[in-house]
Amino acid sequence: MKKLLVIVLAFFLSQLFGQKSDNKISWWKEARFGMFIHWGVYSAEGRGEWIMYQEHIPFGEYRKLAENFHPDNFHPAEWVALAKEAGMKYVVLTTRHHDGYCLYDSRVSDFTSVKIGPGRDLVAEFADACHKAGMKMGFYYSLTDWHFPDILPQGYPKSDEILRPLVKQAHEQVRELLTKYGKVDILWFDGMTPGDTNVWKSGDLIRMARLLQPEILINDRAGTGEDFVTPENVVTAHSQPWESCYTMNRTWGFAPFDYNYKPVAELIRLLTSCASQGGNFLLNVSPDGDGKIPDQQTQSLLEIGKWMKLHGEAVYNASSSPVVASNLGFQCRVGDKVYLFIQRWPGTVLPFAWCGSMVKSARILATGQSLKIEQKDDRVWLRGLPATPPDSYMNVVELTFEGPPKATTPAYR
Ligand code: GLC
Repeated sequence: MKKLLVIVLAFFLSQLFGQKSDNKISWWKEARFGMFIHWGVYSAEGRGEWIMYQEHIPFGEYRKLAENFHPDNFHPAEWVALAKEAGMKYVVLTTRHHDGYCLYDSRVSDFTSVKIGPGRDLVAEFADACHKAGMKMGFYYSLTDWHFPDILPQGYPKSDEILRPLVKQAHEQVRELLTKYGKVDILWFDGMTPGDTNVWKSGDLIRMARLLQPEILINDRAGTGEDFVTPENVVTAHSQPWESCYTMNRTWGFAPFDYNYKPVAELIRLLTSCASQGGNFLLNVSPDGDGKIPDQQTQSLLEIGKWMKLHGEAVYNASSSPVVASNLGFQCRVGDKVYLFIQRWPGTVLPFAWCGSMVKSARILATGQSLKIEQKDDRVWLRGLPATPPDSYMNVVELTFEGPPKATTPAYR
């Protein structure tokens, strides 16, 4: 009898949590666009976030950089406001990168922003800004910590003796991050070196995280898969939820002389490419050591924001579309509507084909202009478009159908 009760209880609990875990990612799928923030001691140097390793800076010397880290212009509410203005729905901050410097107060480390440098819990200020603005908040956390004895150089194998204190600290710090800063929506692991889940006790780590924050979404970089996968600087669709993270230039951390900026049109193309394949786009900003986001990055985000105000309905909650217009660019589906992202403006007539549903109405999102529709079986011509594209970054046409959108099966006549 007792055994039966346990089984029944386990069944109900699994139903409850199973359903919850499906629902808990729905806000993230709807969001489609987030801000990544790489910021730490290294930002004051302006040569990216890997300097400690790449320049083999001994800890004693790196510590001095931390002593001089005084971000007097750190106003996280402004970062969050910028993210909002850009149409982003969540923000992920590097609470600790591979150098091990914590932007928060940690009982188990002396290398923190409270003990060295600013004398402030920067994560607490960031969390406060996110919560006040109703912005979903993510914590990036690097498992590896180069300031630990014998962790540099990277590489494997390392003895248990070397790794054990590192792993212990990581578990403690994840506990701290998930207990001291209110609701945390995303835990974004990175830097799992060595890539061995046994070493990191990843299973325990994830279990603890979910116990402390039952709604939390966890990425794949603690080696256990989890809620979403994270292709880096590439758009690759996956069958499970995915998020492409991208730099605006070529560096994650502040690098004022990295001029390789992607133009706004390219950033929007990447965003819509992700959305049209059912993925998220996490776009990075790299504030300087003072806490200021470089003007060029701010300008790009504001431009994207203007575009999103006109076209956001084609991005949020988007998934792949059964109706395709591959001659023009790509397309997505939101509810029963299909949005054509047009990269090659066709002039006054827009043809597409393999459309298995009758098109009821079509309009250009940027201007609201309705288009004339001609349809013969699965071939469609939209007429009356302006000869030149109305939007200078990416034009979008919204299609409404009789019933849900469907593709035709190829029929060769
Ligand atoms: C890599 C890099 C790191 C960056 C991250 C972003 O793992 O080590 O510097 O933070 O990717 O995805």
